[in-house]
Amino acid sequence: MHLRLGQVPTIVVSSPAIAKEMLKEHDPSFADRPESIALKILWYNYLDIAFSPYGNYWRQMRKICIVELLSAKMVRAFASIRNDEVSRLVKSIQMSNYNAAGDQAINLTVRIFSMTSSITCRAAFGKVSKDNELLLELLEEGRQRAGGFEIADLYPTSKIVNALSWSKWKLAMMRRKLDVILDGIIDEHKVNLGKGKGNGEFGNEDLIDLEFPIHYDNIKGVLFDMFSAGTDTSSTLIDWTMAELMRNPRVMAKAQAEKLKYLKNVIKEALRLHPPVPILPRASRKECVINGYTIPSKVKVLVNNWAMQRDPKYWTNPESFEPKRFEIDSKDFIGSDFEFLPFGAGRRMCPGMTFGLAKDLDMIESPGITALRKDNLFVVPTRLH
Ligand code: HEM
Repeated sequence: MHLRLGQVPTIVVSSPAIAKEMLKEHDPSFADRPESIALKILWYNYLDIAFSPYGNYWRQMRKICIVELLSAKMVRAFASIRNDEVSRLVKSIQMSNYNAAGDQAINLTVRIFSMTSSITCRAAFGKVSKDNELLLELLEEGRQRAGGFEIADLYPTSKIVNALSWSKWKLAMMRRKLDVILDGIIDEHKVNLGKGKGNGEFGNEDLIDLEFPIHYDNIKGVLFDMFSAGTDTSSTLIDWTMAELMRNPRVMAKAQAEKLKYLKNVIKEALRLHPPVPILPRASRKECVINGYTIPSKVKVLVNNWAMQRDPKYWTNPESFEPKRFEIDSKDFIGSDFEFLPFGAGRRMCPGMTFGLAKDLDMIESPGITALRKDNLFVVPTRLH
């Protein structure tokens, strides 16, 4: 489907066959990201990984993050951080139950968010930032503004719109606050390194300690990237999984009885019905013919996972939460079944899949929560034994 959003030509893809053509056969041609003023200002002029234009800089930064943070080896090494944060969460839930008068509900959504942000910070920065709350607020507002629907995004060539953009001013203020936090984290690391100490939780080097010739803004872009990509996605997935388990007590009972194998299918099903990144944001890098249509260079491309993952052409009872479908259906989310792309596909596929899923499995495995749902996920905790 071709849309024109303001001045911006946009292609929306809701068919697995076309997604495959773009993300597999013509992968390099669709390996850019769309631009937006929020991304430009808050993600350091695209010096991060997720929104950086395709090319050598992106390739190098992505490689460094995989080796230092996101590889299977590193994810295994961070198990103690995950265990610690999950037991903290479980303990805090137990405490709130005992302290509350009667069966008072707790806001699980907020607690899950705080847990995933702590895991990400401890793994990436060596500890939880003292400004974590502010960082989360900036992330939340940044995320809302990054979708490309600000007036200045829709009319990028209009000098008047750009000059009068209140959003730009607001984003610049947010960036100033972000700079103070991230500069503080980097400076602290420098001081420790000067004393011959690594900054990782285990006295090792972490992502910020690496010595490669890059500027502060490069490090800050990547740090905010890891924080934003690593926090929102995993917590949204856990939140939805919990909500579905509560709405489906039989699935919950089976998950508690059968443990890991079935749990993996529960998470797969949550990723299908509630993909944390419902649309893959891409941009074309050169003119290309797809399914007989000429797609010009620099066009915004939105691959609509959400629609494909609920399309009755590819899924039986698509609106129902049925993890058992994956006992028969071998579809997986590793980027080769194009009706199921919760982590994307091709060279810009999510590099944090192992890191994110480890958090989710650790968390979902912790027992003992039954509940009711309202706005955020409010639950009444009960002990299982
Ligand atoms: C359940 C958890 C997660 C989901 C569902 C998810 C999903 C996605 C999706 C759909 C994309 C876009 C892929 C594409 O365009 O083809 C992406 C990109 C990315 N994700 Fe994740 N993600 C998750 C967790 C994480 C974590 C934990 C991290 C890091 C700590 C991370 C880091 C990134 C980065 C850096 C990119 C940009 C890659 C690039 O442009 O080269 N993600 N993610």
